[in-house]
Amino acid sequence: MRMATAGIGAMATWLVAGATIAVAQSPAEQRGLTYVRTHCARCHSVDKVTDSPLKIAPPFRTLHLRYPVESLEEALGEGIVTGHPSMPEFRLDPGQVGDVISYLKSLER
Ligand code: HEC
Repeated sequence: MRMATAGIGAMATWLVAGATIAVAQSPAEQRGLTYVRTHCARCHSVDKVTDSPLKIAPPFRTLHLRYPVESLEEALGEGIVTGHPSMPEFRLDPGQVGDVISYLKSLER
């Protein structure tokens, strides 16, 4: 019973995410999107169209214009602090780093 309920919840989340953000398609991109929505979206725009809620935080879709997003791998894994005076430090595990990079790359399409 518990299991069945959790399954339906996960399914509903997946359906909603799939319907609103058509760009995130692979499982890694989906997980990356979920992560950045939870941890980054209150400051950064994480989609293809909106402005960042915090004006000085660059929308994620613009990052690749300044450097390849792969170059963030180390910063995300070791704790991204540089250039974030008003932001809590994030340290992602290797799986999360891969997911977030995949999602950032999906924004370049
Ligand atoms: C509390 C607000 C806040 C949150 C939450 C936040 N950021 Fe930021 N972020 C900022 C601000 C402000 C800047 C711009 C800092 C600057 O230009 O000095 C920034 C800049 C960045 C940059 C650009 C750094 C550079 O020098 O090019 C990256 C990459 C970034 N954030 C990633 C993330 C990720 C990934 C998350 C979620 C895990 C996140 N941020 C969550 C506020 C935030």
